[in-house]
Amino acid sequence: METVLILGATSDIGIAIAKKFAAGGYNIQLAARTPAQLEPLKSDIEIRYKVNCGLYAFDALQYNTHAAFFAGLKPDVTITIFGTMYEEEDAFNDWALAEGMINTNYTGAVSILNIAAKHYIGQQKGSIIGISSVAGDRGRASKLIYGSSKAAFTAYLAGLRNKCFKDNVHVMTVKPGFVYTRMTENIPLPKPLTSTPEEVADIVYSGFTKKKNTIYVKWFWRYIMLIIKNIPEFQFKKMKL
Ligand SMILES: NC(=O)c1ccc[n+]([C@@H]2O[C@H](COP(=O)([O-])OP(=O)(O)OC[C@H]3O[C@@H](n4cnc5c(N)ncnc54)[C@H](OP(=O)(O)O)[C@@H]3O)[C@@H](O)[C@H]2O)c1
Repeated sequence: METVLILGATSDIGIAIAKKFAAGGYNIQLAARTPAQLEPLKSDIEIRYKVNCGLYAFDALQYNTHAAFFAGLKPDVTITIFGTMYEEEDAFNDWALAEGMINTNYTGAVSILNIAAKHYIGQQKGSIIGISSVAGDRGRASKLIYGSSKAAFTAYLAGLRNKCFKDNVHVMTVKPGFVYTRMTENIPLPKPLTSTPEEVADIVYSGFTKKKNTIYVKWFWRYIMLIIKNIPEFQFKKMKL
């Protein structure tokens, strides 16, 4: 039975993805800064889906712990879900907040995924799924730091996919649009454009089984972002997006 590592397992999207893979017969490794709070989820997964589920401490910002952390788990599939989004105006004015977003969304993800990728290249087998965001598709004032950290992560995942392809390692980039989670609970979201974490999990699982490269959640975000990416810069810079 194969094992899936969920990095950022306390997130609403992480919980839904863990359950989806468990339902597909995968053993689950739940990793989070405070793994003790995941005891009820672990029990639920083990009872409901009859798979093994372990809890592990993981902090994306503790880079020097990542190698030993991964060596102790060696999952078949590694999924990075963790991320941080602060108010952009606050982050623009406070380097600690900007740095926190950049380091969580990009540096921490690169740190752990470099280690996972090296392991998968070594064994010529494995899968990596990274949750990025449509916010990384074009730089915008309203997502200045968050969007640029996700843009960097998207570019990293594309490069990793290119690097690992010949070694039979599948790397999938996930770009959600709006999702109802703790991260967006104070933001009014347009219902027709917004997904539930369960919808994200269904689309991620389906994309994984089909070995997709990049998926948008939901599909129409690919076309929304295509339009946004094609607005000429002389016009785009005057817009409020
Ligand atoms: N919600 C959306 O509309 C949306 C859209 C596009 C992309 N995304 C992306 O989807 C992913 C999941 O977010 P979500 O919407 O499910 O939000 P969420 O519920 O707020 O989840 C964020 C997760 O990141 C974890 N985290 C933050 N800093 C960490 C660190 N230093 N080390 C380890 N874990 C850390 C949090 O753990 P704690 O419980 O310890 O705080 C939490 O599990 C993120 O990458 C986000 O950028 C979300």
